Amino acid sequence: MTSQKTILRALARETLPTPPIWMMRQAGRYLPEYKATRAQAGDFLSLCYSPDLAAEVTLQPIRRYGFDAAILFADILLLPQALGADLWFVTGEGPRLSTITTADELAALKPAADVNDHLSPIYETIKILSKELPSETTLIGFAGSPWTVATYMIAGQGTPDQAPAHALKDENRAVFDGLIDVITEGTIVYLSTQIEAGAEVIKLFDSWAGSLHGDDFQRYSIEPMRKITAALKAAYPHVPIIAFPRGAGDKYTDLHAAIGADCIAFDDGVSADWVAKNVQTGGCVQGNLASSHMVTGGNALVAETRKIVDALSGGPHIFNLGHGITPDADPANVQLMIDTVRGG
Ligand code: CP3
Repeated sequence: MTSQKTILRALARETLPTPPIWMMRQAGRYLPEYKATRAQAGDFLSLCYSPDLAAEVTLQPIRRYGFDAAILFADILLLPQALGADLWFVTGEGPRLSTITTADELAALKPAADVNDHLSPIYETIKILSKELPSETTLIGFAGSPWTVATYMIAGQGTPDQAPAHALKDENRAVFDGLIDVITEGTIVYLSTQIEAGAEVIKLFDSWAGSLHGDDFQRYSIEPMRKITAALKAAYPHVPIIAFPRGAGDKYTDLHAAIGADCIAFDDGVSADWVAKNVQTGGCVQGNLASSHMVTGGNALVAETRKIVDALSGGPHIFNLGHGITPDADPANVQLMIDTVRGG
């Protein structure tokens, strides 16, 4: 049976006359209604763990813009918390976590099989959304990829070059590999339960894949995503997977097959023309307007949006930004992007 949902059709490799569209961080601080609900929740984590409010912010960009997909409102760092790490957010700075750099700290983590003890509010959010989303809107669940999640668990915060994670990988491979394994196993449990609750598509965010080079890229970006994808496909063969190894550059080639993913999402470090020739041949692709256009708008936004749509019009494509929209974006520019994609 062919689904009517445009995102699912593109993920099933259909070339559509108009690419479906959604946007990373579409529920976020550029929207006044998001800021109001976040204030009501008190802080970001309380928002993530309040199913009614998390569902509300997930729905806000769907109501305002009619995106083709909604992405569950949560965060990739909830899984480390479910594994026993302390997690808090410093306003204006970002996440902070207790760190894992020794065998004892690794051993003190909770078993991957137990992450659902902590994550049940997230599944509640998905159940609410399954009821409330318009029938044409696809619900995307997600998790961070093991490498990206590990970079935060090792450093205890975001880092420009992921140096602490690279250092642990080089100095204590057993602890590093053990951490990647426990995140991989926990992620399989987390995403399986998201699917059981109603997520129709899964996206894996490997935001820091770009700092893995040589054999490390294969071993720590691709291999964990392949393992997670294989486990999900074995249990839920009908659920499409989008993999986003951000910053992969010329390593984006052949990744559909290497990961087993239905769609490869790409950032704006590669051109849509190059992606059409080198990545879209393997299946659906998602991307890649630079998110800075959501701040600057105007003719450059329109011209670049058209260029991307044209370049990828010969195969399955989901339009998106190259990375998340930023808090300084103008909501009117989002509408201009959507009108350009849908109106030509
Ligand atoms: O709308 C959506 O895209 C869904 C929700 C979502 C959030 N984070 C909400 C959020 C998703 C899919 C994420 C993924 C995420 N979280 C990633 C991978 C994607 C990427 O951006 O590379 C990463 C690395 C994180 C970790 C994280 N969460 C950081 C580094 C930060 C601080 C930076 C920032 O933008 O403030 C967050 C906070 C966060 N996650 C916010 C939102 C809306 C802002 C928090 C706030 O409201 O104060």
